[in-house]
Amino acid sequence: MPSSPETTISVTRTRTPQRRPEDASLSFGKVFTDHMFLMEYEEGRGWHSPRVVPYGPLTLDPATSVLHYGQAVFDGLKAFRGADGQVRLFRAQRHAERLNRSCAALCIPEMDAGLIRRSFEAIVAADHDWVPRSPGTSLYIRPTVVATEVMLGVHPAHRYTYFVICSPVGSYYKEGVKPVRILATDKYVRAVQGGLGEAKTAANYAASLSAQRDAERQGYTQVLWLDAIERRWIDEVGTMNIMLRIGDEVITPPLGGTILDGVTRNSALTLMRDWGLTVSERRISIEEVMRAGQDGSLREMWGTGTAAVVSPVGELGYKDQRIVIGGGQTGELTQRLYDAITAIQYSRAEDPHGWTSAV
Ligand code: COI
Repeated sequence: MPSSPETTISVTRTRTPQRRPEDASLSFGKVFTDHMFLMEYEEGRGWHSPRVVPYGPLTLDPATSVLHYGQAVFDGLKAFRGADGQVRLFRAQRHAERLNRSCAALCIPEMDAGLIRRSFEAIVAADHDWVPRSPGTSLYIRPTVVATEVMLGVHPAHRYTYFVICSPVGSYYKEGVKPVRILATDKYVRAVQGGLGEAKTAANYAASLSAQRDAERQGYTQVLWLDAIERRWIDEVGTMNIMLRIGDEVITPPLGGTILDGVTRNSALTLMRDWGLTVSERRISIEEVMRAGQDGSLREMWGTGTAAVVSPVGELGYKDQRIVIGGGQTGELTQRLYDAITAIQYSRAEDPHGWTSAV
């Protein structure tokens, strides 16, 4: 039985606030704020005791099931400080709903979506001063659920902990907003139909590490995953959904169980349709992409993600081929999307779809 949205969230403030880092020193996910949100689940009692407490370690028995079998889900959203000084969450409801879908995929009891939203608001309110001010910076919010039953049997746990931590961040990639290089792999696969591909679960990221290490050794930033059966249909990139512009068509692989239903993906598709562009959610093979790269019709390629925002792809490798996209520069539509999404996030533009909410 999920806690109701009216449940009181208690707040215990830290007595030892840390010094906040300079905005210019921020990268991704290296420093954490003064507080965290916690809530537990026990069978028969449901989700209970939602609270904001000082940030600190979790104490886990070595036999805690998440440490052995990975029953864990997370999500990632951001809070932005607008030009007017007001802090706003971006698409909090959609992130709360996706977290619940990930829970369902991993047999974790769902939470009340209203309470998830309130957990985001409560932690951001507690750490309001941590939301950075400089262009391109934000507060990354990481809600996570882990199985905490102490047992080694393989079955869904009867106890869970939900926590939310926050990190002031700059760019996800060391390249900043400059184009990244990605490598399509047919050696490793990420997800199959009927698996966990659309859930934001630790296992998907563990499964990506070997491929990511190989790509980095070859000088690439990220891996472009192909489907697991034929190993030719493009799926998504390490931490982003992928989009391409071939001639006048914008293409992105369809949702269908193997890729993440990205919130930035949905925002980009919505804006491009608002602008009257032809956008296809369709399967596209790596051969079609490489051919378009060679004949010059591949005009732009970019990734979308909460951490990565809208990230241009300047180069794509596949087997022994390598194509440079748009002269290795950020394309016109990529830049337009980046500008439009960040303008809404930082409240420099109207928010016609009601994506932001003030904290
Ligand atoms: C996000 O964009 O929020 C992600 O989850 C990427 C993260 C794994 C770095």
